[in-house]
Amino acid sequence: MKTIRLDGVEACVFDAYGTLFDVSSVARGTEAALGDRAKDVLDLWRAKQLQYTWLRGLAGHHADFWQVTGEALSFALSSFDLDRADLKVQLMACYMSIPAYPEVTETLQRLKAGGMKLAILSNGSPAMLSAAVGHAGLSTFFDAVISVEEVGVFKPHPSVYALPEKHLGVTAEHSCFVSSNGWDAFSAKAFGYRVMWCNRFNQPSERLPSMPDGTMDSLSMLPGIVLPE
Ligand code: LAC
Repeated sequence: MKTIRLDGVEACVFDAYGTLFDVSSVARGTEAALGDRAKDVLDLWRAKQLQYTWLRGLAGHHADFWQVTGEALSFALSSFDLDRADLKVQLMACYMSIPAYPEVTETLQRLKAGGMKLAILSNGSPAMLSAAVGHAGLSTFFDAVISVEEVGVFKPHPSVYALPEKHLGVTAEHSCFVSSNGWDAFSAKAFGYRVMWCNRFNQPSERLPSMPDGTMDSLSMLPGIVLPE
């Protein structure tokens, strides 16, 4: 992992799911219902959720992330013969109280104290994001919590990456975009952001345009990278 510094950054724009919020936490408490298939069901759910966002984007059939997430869950449960309404309700509810990763609060505090503007840019619907941000106690940190619903298409459509400038008044060039999702990090870089890829799961580089400026294994490193010395 290279130690880098990014100069002239005035805003940090965060992806939500997987970056600030721990999607894998959805598994906790579901072992009793899903048994030893829990990880497989949840991995398929997340993979389908993202696939559906891309497919709907390409086809021009937008529906909000709550609907897409529910449809992806139905597919995943069906694949494992677990298609039960009670399970679906239980698992979907997890998205409304999804916990933040342990380092998130302190990282946001340090960035905010350093004068950084902060925003979330996410596929999540406004209701999902507001519930997650409120539940994790992060509301006071953000200058903007931006949902793709403003443009009616999912990441990585360029119109999504254009939204933070409208809210924060800071160009992509002077913003650091942060995502743990490799495809999101690469796409934001191709749009024109400075990008730190929070590669929590040590995944290989995507074969997509364009390579992020740097990687980090947790968000804790971010203040040291973007705040002036
Ligand atoms: C989001 C998904 C990509 O929050 O994690 O936009």
